[in-house]
Formats: sequence, structure tokens, C-alpha cells
Amino acid sequence: MRRKLENLPGVFTETKDSLLSQIESDLSAGISKFLLFPVPSAKQQSLSDFSFATGILQAVKSNFGNDVWMSADCCLCSYTTHGHCGVLDEKQMKIDNHKSVEILSGYALQLAQAGADSIAPSDMMDGRIAAIRSRLDANELDEVTIMSYSAKFSSQLYGPFRDACHSSPAEGKIRDRKSYQLSPSNPEDAILSSIRDAEEGADILMVKPAGWYTDIILRIKEQVNQPLAAYHVSGEYASIECMAEKGIVNRDAAHLELWTALRRAGADIIISYASREAKGWIQHMKY
Ligand code: PBG
Ligand code: ZN
Repeated sequence: MRRKLENLPGVFTETKDSLLSQIESDLSAGISKFLLFPVPSAKQQSLSDFSFATGILQAVKSNFGNDVWMSADCCLCSYTTHGHCGVLDEKQMKIDNHKSVEILSGYALQLAQAGADSIAPSDMMDGRIAAIRSRLDANELDEVTIMSYSAKFSSQLYGPFRDACHSSPAEGKIRDRKSYQLSPSNPEDAILSSIRDAEEGADILMVKPAGWYTDIILRIKEQVNQPLAAYHVSGEYASIECMAEKGIVNRDAAHLELWTALRRAGADIIISYASREAKGWIQHMKY
């Protein structure tokens, strides 16, 4: 059933049917580009069945074709029992990077074969962009875009998203994502990781979270000549919603001011949970 997300007002996890009607109404609101986050109902031990995600993509593309541009988040954290973005080694002590990249690139290929226009790897494993690019190219899917989460920081701001995906790594021996996500105190790493992803074949780079990281947006834009996305993540969206609910800010104006800051810093693309309202806001607020 379509599920309301308590910590993300106005956002839902959809079923296949509710997603199709949501996309239809989004198209009439001027939104045609989507980032899909598959959340399968059951976690898996062996990570071999991606048919839920591919089925959704097939349904979307067969209904809407090229009227929609679908990017599919490519990660394992909504599938794994432990909630990590990759698979663990035998002792469950650390991430097995090599094995994770193999599974992720196979998953990316299946997503592309199901009709994804873009693959968005959010796992942060080393070498995944090159692996995905070569799997896609070898299967005549070279026109499928890779939008890499190239500067993804280990952040407090992903909470509402993890609630929605049941992907918080709260148990087991590793309880955070610090071994594979970037440190907020190490900007150089974010720049280098973005340069490396571009070299490995990423078509679009990304900074995430966005609002606390506009310096990173600016620096990547200066150093890498590639389209750059800024992802205003769940906790950032929720913080504006909470303030608006308390009457501290005007909701629409606050989201617009934030989007303006992201554009000012150099973002070419903004990913936002409020984007279905963008057209109306921008038209009516004469911003
Ligand atoms: C999964 C993923 C996350 C987000 C996007 N893809 C969560 C995480 O890394 O824990 C965060 C999105 C958001 O907070 O809106 N790798
Ligand atoms: Zn993940």
C-alpha cells in the first residue's frame, strides 16, 4: 500500500500502481525527471533478485516512454539485512569492496536493461563507476547516463530516508557508513572523488547533502567540467518542513531560497523532495 512518510511531509513510498498515477500528475505539473528508490518488501541474504526494481522501471517506461527520464538509484542498502550499501566480508567486520562492485554493476546492468535512462550509484564503493560503465558499454547501453553520487558525505541528514527504506545500519559490528562515505571535514577527498568518478565515466556528478556543502558545489564546478547535481536530502527537506510547521519560515519561500543558493553555488541540477511544486512556486513568487 502507498505509505505516508511521517518524517517527510508530503512524500510517500509508492506501489507500482500509485507510482504510475503519481507520475501522471507530476507530468502535468511540469516534472518529467525522476530518481527512483526501490524499496523491496523483503531483505535478502544472497542479493540476487532485483525483479522488484526492474519490474517498476519496465512499467514506468512502457506507460510513459520517453516522456519521462528515469534515473534509478543503484545501491544495496534497501536490500541487505544489515542495511549497508555493500556486502560484508566473511567475518562481517568490513565491507567487501570487490564483491560489492560486482553485484552493484550487475544490478546496474539489469536496471538499464529494464529501461532506466540513467543509473545513479549511491553506494560509494571504490571503482564502481568504471565497472558500471564497462558493463553498460559491453551491452550496447552506452547511451545510458551515469549520475554518480561523487561527493556524498557521511551525514546526519539521511535519517528520514533511512526510516523509509529500513536501511539504518544500527546493528552488527559496523554501525555507520564512515568507511565508505566521505568525511565532512575532508573537502579534498570530495573533490578528488568527483574528479576520479568523471575520469571513470560518470556523466553527471553530485554533491550530497547540498545546503551545508555549497562550498563543495562551487569547488567541483570550478575544477570539473561536467554537469553537477545538488541533492537536497531528506533531513534537509524535513528541517525546512519543521520550521514551516512552527511558523518560523514561509515554506515556499524557504525552499526557493535554498534552491537559489544551490544554483548560485553552481549546481546545474537540483534534486528535491519538493520539486513537484517547483513550477507553481517559481511562477507565482516572481523569484
Ligand atoms: C542510499 C541512499 C541514501 C540516500 C540516497 N541514497 C542514504 C544513505 O546513504 O544512508 C539519502 C537520501 C536522503 O536522505 O534523501 N545509499
Ligand atoms: Zn546505500
